[in-house]
Amino acid sequence: MRIGLYPGSFDPITLGHMDIIRRGAKLVDKLVIGVTTNPSKTPLFPLDTRLAMIRRECAALGNGTIEVVAFDSLLMHFARECGASLILRGLRGASDFEYEYQMTGMNQYLDSSIETVFLMADVALQPIASRLVKEIAVLGGDISRFVTPAVRDDVLAQIAARKAQGS
Ligand code: PNS
Repeated sequence: MRIGLYPGSFDPITLGHMDIIRRGAKLVDKLVIGVTTNPSKTPLFPLDTRLAMIRRECAALGNGTIEVVAFDSLLMHFARECGASLILRGLRGASDFEYEYQMTGMNQYLDSSIETVFLMADVALQPIASRLVKEIAVLGGDISRFVTPAVRDDVLAQIAARKAQGS
């Protein structure tokens, strides 16, 4: 059984992520979506909320072959724990490439038996990035072309809650 791992912060899950999940699920028997907190980013959503959002959004995808799991360890250790032979990452353009190139190289040093495979989302979804979705929402822009209606509502509610707390 071929197991793929799609890791990321998913803060929040976008239509671009969902397109990669749809494409990735076709390449493997089981796709594990590994959700973690990237130490170089301060998340808008707590990890548990991100997990619940991803599970909700992916409920109709993959016919039970998609699993959403949190991890708090080295990616390559988690990939081994999952029995994954492939790590899937979305690649949007040159700015992603440098980051992904370096991460893949380091990960190869840690475990060269696990391949990283890059997928491109539909061209119409290429520019979507969680970071920009949050920035647009915080500044009052419309994010409904980048995320599902439920995720849009979650983002707006979380931003409003943060503002009410003064953070
Ligand atoms: O969605 P992101 O934030 O671009 O995903 C980055 C992620 C989570 C894949 C990366 O930060 C990661 O692999 N974190 C786990 C810790 C780890 O293995 N770090 C060493 C990477 S070479």
